Amino acid sequence: MLVLGIETTCDETSAALVRKNPQGGGAILANETISQIARHAAYGGVVPEIAARAHIDYLDHLIRRALQAAEIELRQVDAIAAAAGPGLIGGVLVGLTAGKALAFAANKPFIAVNHLEAHALTARMTDNIAFPYLALLMSGGHTQLLEVRGVGEYARLGSTIDDAIGEAFDKVAKTLGLPYPGGPAVEKAALAGDPERFAFPRPLLGRAQPDFSLSGLKTAVRNEAVRSAPLTEKDVADLCASFQAAIVDVVIDRTRVALRLLRERGSAPSALVVAGGVASNAAIRRALQRFSGETGLPLVAPPPELCTDNGAMIAWAGIERFSIGRVDDLTVRARPRWPLDAQGEARHHGKA
Ligand code: KG4
Ligand code: ZN
Repeated sequence: MLVLGIETTCDETSAALVRKNPQGGGAILANETISQIARHAAYGGVVPEIAARAHIDYLDHLIRRALQAAEIELRQVDAIAAAAGPGLIGGVLVGLTAGKALAFAANKPFIAVNHLEAHALTARMTDNIAFPYLALLMSGGHTQLLEVRGVGEYARLGSTIDDAIGEAFDKVAKTLGLPYPGGPAVEKAALAGDPERFAFPRPLLGRAQPDFSLSGLKTAVRNEAVRSAPLTEKDVADLCASFQAAIVDVVIDRTRVALRLLRERGSAPSALVVAGGVASNAAIRRALQRFSGETGLPLVAPPPELCTDNGAMIAWAGIERFSIGRVDDLTVRARPRWPLDAQGEARHHGKA
């Protein structure tokens, strides 16, 4: 089974070809991505209108490049998958419409993929892991702990009640005059810093529900930056290191609570899977590795280029859905908000 995947929900335009291995997992034949970081950097964040226009500029070209790189012709693919949300609606429409048009023209089945589902299933492509497992999604727009029970079967254990983790990194970077995107810049600055100089809060630590709250921590960093101004390079490094240390403690504590909840419910997760751009942070990865050693729960962290947004994860989610007969018709709509779990789904429909 060979699927073309298209991703345009945020600021990465990507097209990929993935083939399902007979023994499980997937082989990436091509994964062509253009990051729009340079187009948004001057604004300190993703500008939806610029993102949508850039997707239009890049997408056709990337699809052609992916087909060429994989030495595949469109008629050889078994299905076409595109992310239909959640995300910035203008961008989602570009990828979804392109996917539908190709499916129509080439007479192929079409699969509308939930972007979060694609992040959550990536580890099955790379590591062929078994259901159920615990997934920790950490990106610029999302922070969630999920029980992944099967394709289309997700239970949200906890999520953020304010900022996403990546967003907190981005905002802290902006406060400290570091470039966008903030995560890699903060991580780099933190290398030279003292994580114990500032005792920042660890919001919700020890709470029984594995939710996150990060806006208080972000504000604490800003207040300290104002108090210590003008900031030396050492101050910035110490602020970054102290902030990152707080994030690490929060991530581990919240994940520990989620695992405890799962085990209390009688679930035996096969692994802890991490995904999203923040999962490429080395300090967080190291802490999760220690946590994995303590709890006996294997850690599965796809390589950084598959943790950030990419077309291969959309193609793989398409393969997973197609394998159980889930295809969509061409009237399927773009969804700016699209919660993964049934509970969220019910809430969403209630509102609509
Ligand atoms: O998954 P992603 O590429 O895009 C979405 O938001 O969907 O994640 C991007 C986010 C940004 O907020 C970025 O600052 C953060 O991930 N990020 C990091 C690191 N690399 C990227 N955060 C912390 N440490 C990093 N090394
Ligand atoms: Zn993402």
